[in-house]
Amino acid sequence: MLIDTYGRVATDLRVSLTDRCNLRCTYCMPEEGLQWLAKPDLLTDDEIVRLIGIAVSSLGIEEVRFTGGEPLLRPGLVGLVERVAALTPRPQMSLTTNGIGLRRTAAALKTAGLDRVNVSLDTLRPDVFKALTRRDRHQDVLDGLRAAHEAGLTPVKVNSVLMPGLNDDEAPDLLAWAVRHEYELRFIEQMPLDAQHGWKREGMVTAGDILASLRTRFELTAEGAGERGSAPAERWIVDGGPHRVGVIASVTRPFCAACDRTRLTADGQIRTCLFATEETDLREALRSGAADEEIARIWRLAMWGKKAGSGLDDPSFLQPERPMSAIGG
Ligand SMILES: C[S@@+](CC[C@H](N)C(=O)[O-])C[C@H]1O[C@@H](n2cnc3c(N)ncnc32)[C@H](O)[C@@H]1O
Repeated sequence: MLIDTYGRVATDLRVSLTDRCNLRCTYCMPEEGLQWLAKPDLLTDDEIVRLIGIAVSSLGIEEVRFTGGEPLLRPGLVGLVERVAALTPRPQMSLTTNGIGLRRTAAALKTAGLDRVNVSLDTLRPDVFKALTRRDRHQDVLDGLRAAHEAGLTPVKVNSVLMPGLNDDEAPDLLAWAVRHEYELRFIEQMPLDAQHGWKREGMVTAGDILASLRTRFELTAEGAGERGSAPAERWIVDGGPHRVGVIASVTRPFCAACDRTRLTADGQIRTCLFATEETDLREALRSGAADEEIARIWRLAMWGKKAGSGLDDPSFLQPERPMSAIGG
């Protein structure tokens, strides 16, 4: 089990498959100049499967989410999903993706054993999409979403980040669209994880702003207290149900006390938190011939030292050196 000194138990493993991405979202990556991880530094498929195998058989991991960078850019993703689905015990498996290319792979991913997807989409307007992501791929994302739904990778969740002056007027339109297509929409507060270190607390769109904007068009009822559990999203029932909308208030209402996550970067580092400033190297252990039990011991020790909170509220908060794309969002 991966327990920390505050008694939290990590059962949810986020695995970054690559730091590369085919979009350049302004809140995540610079337009150019970000240094990619070198290929030999990335974990191989065999190494990833071995680590997830140790995590599910010896460390109590129940859920695995593949992320990045853009995980659909990882060659052999379908084969990787198939191998993880064959592990005992079999973890729940999901993917966080920008949806580009999902049109072609959704059915194969479902057959391989993927359970669900979260697709990131911040706007319904192609011109705003282009300004936000610096790429003209809006239709590809919509096509990917539809394919995921048709393939049964459900519930299909949509992650949206609102940026002041760009798409902060779109919350009600996004929700109406999500309800119509049976996607479950979740807004994520913008976090200080951009490579350019341009985040400003004063400038961000807060959960409070988002809810106020949604309430101009919808009746929202908070889901029962306690139902959030370790889930980061607080959820609201839309117009009496059955649809829900979530808000992940990582900055203004952090959920660190209930956090159940552990993270593995594409280069084999364990992170206890998105905002951790330290990492623990599992790749070195793997490549120097460590036995499974030794790897499990290193992982347990890393998680034991997990900090109480992200530190975002602390005036001395320092943004982690690695951006979101390199950590795995
Ligand atoms: C880093 S991406 C990686 C997976 C995939 N490329 C995608 O677009 O979903 C994962 C999620 O993190 C979100 N994200 C990236 N930078 C963020 C930031 N600074 N604050 C909040 N969310 C962010 C993205 O919008 C996306 O929903």
